[in-house]
Amino acid sequence: MILLAIETSCDETSAAVVDGDRVLSNAVASQIQLHAEYGGVVPELAAREHLRNLMPVVQTALRHAGVAAGQLDALAATQGPGLPLALLVGFKAAQALAFVLQKPFVGVNHHEAHLYSPWIAGSPPAADFAAFEPNVSLIVSGGHTLLVHVESELRHRVLGSTLDDAAGECFDKTGKLMGLPYPAGPEIDRLASSGNPLAYDFPRPLLHEPNDDFSFSGLKTSVRYFIRDHPEVLAGSQTISDLCASVQAAIIDVLVAKTLRATRRLGLRCVTASGGVICNRALRQELTRACAGRSYTLRLADKSLCTDNAAMIGVLALRKLAHHHPLPALDEEIKTNWALG
Ligand code: KG4
Ligand code: ZN
Repeated sequence: MILLAIETSCDETSAAVVDGDRVLSNAVASQIQLHAEYGGVVPELAAREHLRNLMPVVQTALRHAGVAAGQLDALAATQGPGLPLALLVGFKAAQALAFVLQKPFVGVNHHEAHLYSPWIAGSPPAADFAAFEPNVSLIVSGGHTLLVHVESELRHRVLGSTLDDAAGECFDKTGKLMGLPYPAGPEIDRLASSGNPLAYDFPRPLLHEPNDDFSFSGLKTSVRYFIRDHPEVLAGSQTISDLCASVQAAIIDVLVAKTLRATRRLGLRCVTASGGVICNRALRQELTRACAGRSYTLRLADKSLCTDNAAMIGVLALRKLAHHHPLPALDEEIKTNWALG
């Protein structure tokens, strides 16, 4: 079965063609440059950019897959959560295509798709559900930090989430305090690689609380006061690197410790992770080290599938069709605050 998926929930316009387990193409047009000027995603601009990019991106995905629109067996799009105007662009376009082609349409929860992106691997990429095992899945992006128990394929339960800022937001906001360009996450990752993570001591919020929730706004505030009291730190390249490494270590310690603790508590032996922050090299290393120490299986989403992409939307949509999940009506609306589970 060949399916075209579209993702426009935030600032990436993406289209992918998936055939069974195989991802035939995954075209992504990122808007990072556009929003960098404003220091964050501007919803109205994002929607306009999706309108401009959608058809070229869809055409690219079809061309790379060697598939004509008439050969599609099904359509899918992100239905939520996300920015309303941005979601509407991809969701309504996919519904219209399904209507014209008289094919089934699947509306996908963006976070649910993140849960399965770590199972897509290889070159060319394919979903490896034969290897699936129950797991604890960590989703960390600019807007969300979620810990989820994936009990079986398509069955999951949210264990915890962030009470305030998401981990990516914490990278971006503390980076802004240091004068780094948006999004600061990749820049902190780069600078931290030559810094000392023990140079400055920052709080590890909720680390020892008996829950699976996260909170990062207190860490951001303590970085703000630290910079106010020690402005000289921003003047030296080594001290900036040390600051980046120390902030990054605080975020990573909490993410890794709480993920591993939930896995142990639930008696599971598998951890998966996805979302833009999972591109972070030190976080990938720490998760790898921690899981290896307990002989847990770790599946990290490929970096190209950590950030928003339509491949993960298409893979989940085909899984839902295969499992005969109820499909939304063709005139159903977007769900901007669609909570996982
Ligand atoms: O999942 P994503 O592409 O977008 C949404 O939030 O929807 O995640 C973007 C976030 C940003 O906060 C960005 O700073 C962060 O992921 N990020 C990173 C790295 N690459 C992206 N954070 C830390 N280290 C990185 N290498
Ligand atoms: Zn995402």
